[in-house]
Amino acid sequence: MIPSEPEKLNLNTKESRSGAPHPKTFFIKTFGCQMNVHDSERMSGLLMDSGAIPVENPEEAEIILVNTCTIRDKADQKALSDLGRLRRIRKEGGILAVTGCMAQREGEELFRMVPDVDLLLGPSQIRNLIPLIERTSSGEKHVDGTVLPLPEMTTPPAFRPEGATAFVTVQEGCDKACAYCVVPSTRGPERSRPVEDILQEIRDLVNLGYREITLLGQNVNGYGKKEMNGNGAFFTLLQKIHEIPGLKRIRFTTSHPVDMSEALVETMKSFPRIMPHLHLPLQSGSDSVLCRMRRGYTVEEYRYWAKLLRREIPGISLTTDLIVGFCGETEEEFLETCRAVEEFRFDGAFSFIYSPRPSTPAYALDTMPPRDVSVKRLERLQAQIESQSSEINRLMEGSIVEVLVEKWDPETGVAIGRTPQFRNVKTKVSGYTPPPFPGDLISVRIESSSKTGIRGTAIRIIG
Ligand code: 5AD
Ligand code: SF4
Repeated sequence: MIPSEPEKLNLNTKESRSGAPHPKTFFIKTFGCQMNVHDSERMSGLLMDSGAIPVENPEEAEIILVNTCTIRDKADQKALSDLGRLRRIRKEGGILAVTGCMAQREGEELFRMVPDVDLLLGPSQIRNLIPLIERTSSGEKHVDGTVLPLPEMTTPPAFRPEGATAFVTVQEGCDKACAYCVVPSTRGPERSRPVEDILQEIRDLVNLGYREITLLGQNVNGYGKKEMNGNGAFFTLLQKIHEIPGLKRIRFTTSHPVDMSEALVETMKSFPRIMPHLHLPLQSGSDSVLCRMRRGYTVEEYRYWAKLLRREIPGISLTTDLIVGFCGETEEEFLETCRAVEEFRFDGAFSFIYSPRPSTPAYALDTMPPRDVSVKRLERLQAQIESQSSEINRLMEGSIVEVLVEKWDPETGVAIGRTPQFRNVKTKVSGYTPPPFPGDLISVRIESSSKTGIRGTAIRIIG
């Protein structure tokens, strides 16, 4: 049976020479998306709650976790090469665990590929981490947590780095079935977290000094759609979060075009602490490719949302994800993507070459363009995106923006933080006593922008 709360066990099992309990040390290496970064924070929270202490160096760690991603083949290769390195430096008698999406996808095959691995854990099984470590510690070989039944959703305590910004999970898993995507099989079906849990976690974070939160979910704007448990829609969740005193900024990622709503746009427009930035993956600018990808929308439908957002929320930043070289992509279909990038004036875009993933609907198709064609297409697309976003950055020169300070370096007098549109700015701050602290808002005049970033000078500390 799976416990309904993460199990608390004491990992301080070994005795030190003084007879006092000797805490276990751990090190987590993280690959992949923000969701994975936050999963590592949650695993750190569980381990620390059980008495273990984090160390900076894997050589010193008794428990090493490699939190993997498997979205593209390159992600697998990175994690495997790191595993090869870590397996050589692991401590005698220590634990080497592979967690995350690659662990879930490969399952016990990973034990065959890297026999030194002691423990596997999928992203939906995080709260079983401690009991599984206990099983490994008591001598069981090759403990496979990826075969456990999916627990109902809970968020274990997370250990976050100190700072102004924090991630908060509102939804796990994914019910979409994009033909290229491995995530529904690694993270399981969509589950939305109860509203009250989310609000309480954010209140606690504000009390700890965090000032900006980013809500995480695979299709975050589809929050609450599936469950009839009174969670309500995503826009109502945003409105409730907006009421929390002391919280300065709210962000969320990733949104899906199919789950967009006028009510969400209206909420983003009317609630000032919801930041004017939407990451809305388009994937392709060609209807035929979108159909083969099983994305569930057309370019015209995407255009509706892009236009509405630009009209209702002036200055909004719209960013996206794009895939080139998907099965059967012709030159003309690729050019449709380039035209869409121009038309939608994306402020930024992540772009990738399609990578076939085992167990996805598109895996069986072998109609991809030749690799060298896809490489060239990606280069062309990235050059276009870069030139568009440099142009947008250049237009910011001379303007005044509000930056939330994330880091402050008293040696150089430079504050690093983001604009509401999520642009990173390095700000020279001089003549202010006290200087800005992480979590403070400052008014900044933008002086310059280049490939290395946007720079400005503070003209007021808002606090
Ligand atoms: N190949 C290439 N890119 C992919 N993505 C997801 N699956 C694949 C794949 N098999 C991209 C999509 C998604 C982003 C997180 O990764 O653009 O939005
Ligand atoms: Fe994140 Fe997807 Fe990679 Fe899993 S496979 S870590 S969900 S990007």
